[in-house]
Amino acid sequence: MISVCFVCLGNICRSPAAEGVFLTLLRGSPLEARVRVDSAGTAAYHEGESADARMRAHAKRRGYELPSVARAVAPTDFTRFDRIFAMDASNHRELTRRAPEAARARVRLYREYDELGRGLDVPDPYYGGPAGFEEVLDIVERCGRNLLRELEAELGPR
Ligand code: 4NP
Repeated sequence: MISVCFVCLGNICRSPAAEGVFLTLLRGSPLEARVRVDSAGTAAYHEGESADARMRAHAKRRGYELPSVARAVAPTDFTRFDRIFAMDASNHRELTRRAPEAARARVRLYREYDELGRGLDVPDPYYGGPAGFEEVLDIVERCGRNLLRELEAELGPR
């Protein structure tokens, strides 16, 4: 079993999209029952909310449901999850700062998995237009495919 948590600022746009897309990619993969997926935000201001309606609508058009209910990152997340994927450099800094020393290596920048923009931020779509939400989906689809491949190689068959 391996567990992954996607993290952005509010946990209503980018990390719910990363989570929903990755859940869909997992479905039908031999890893489906072996990977636990969640998301959280470094900030708590949207706690309890569903993913942003715009993000959900754009995701739905591509066939993705976004089941997340926003929550803030908790100290226990650093031991509960094997990998914690930050959506941007600011989230990454914040998570690295909060992580206990022994868990710091679990914190990664998600776009390290993006062959078309390695190491860049997933841009925050919150204050922008529709193109921003589409861009988030393009990015998390590429990252999700690469992450799934890595986990398949790591966990092996059955
Ligand atoms: P997210 O987007 O971090 O991708 O969920 C944001 C959501 C809310 C806010 C900022 C970014 N906000 O300032 O409320």
